[in-house]
Amino acid sequence: MKKFLILCLMALPLMAEMKVLVFAGSLRTDSYNKKLAKEATETIRKFGYDVTYIDLKDYPLPFYDADVESQGMPKMAKKLQDLMIKSDWIVIASPEYNGSISGVLKNAIDWTSRSSDGSFTTAAFEGKHFMLMSASPGQRGGAHALVHLREIIEQLGGEVSEKPFSVPVAHAAFTKEGIVSLKKELQSEMEPLFKH
Ligand code: FNR
Repeated sequence: MKKFLILCLMALPLMAEMKVLVFAGSLRTDSYNKKLAKEATETIRKFGYDVTYIDLKDYPLPFYDADVESQGMPKMAKKLQDLMIKSDWIVIASPEYNGSISGVLKNAIDWTSRSSDGSFTTAAFEGKHFMLMSASPGQRGGAHALVHLREIIEQLGGEVSEKPFSVPVAHAAFTKEGIVSLKKELQSEMEPLFKH
């Protein structure tokens, strides 16, 4: 027991250094993907990481437009990019819209792949670990969106964990009863990635 406590204390500074950013690609207040992202945040916090959940609604971005960019990178795009750059892990829960990711998420990715000088950069993605998630009322749990999101993140140099986390029939998963098994599933899927 004493040995175990000493080992835990030794691991504390290491855990404190690991920063995780979590957000969803949906703006809607009652979003299943925001709920999923918040559950993931709680799970990661239990593993001892320095984890930050953000709502993209608090980071309003114009549609990417090189004319807008020529006036300077939007403040919120820079703020979001800085948060990503500071993170070791980024967890994204994306809705599936017409077989792909949301426009909101794609726009955020596009802006965060730009520099203040108007050039392309992978600084917010390269060498970072990503865990991808999706919640959908459909039976496939956003499977198509997850494939597209993986391709985009990998193209930008992000290391995407092999197994995405998918929540089909999301309206049932986020009920009082459903949430109990969702929490358990999240814990066991995230444990191999985040447990020290
Ligand atoms: C959807 N939805 C949807 N769901 C799905 O599983 N596959 C799909 O291709 C689509 N396509 C789609 C297109 C558009 C324009 C909308 C508005 C919706 C349903 C979608 O999964 C559902 O609205 C989710 O609740 C959206 O995620 P949040 O906001 O709950 O996180």
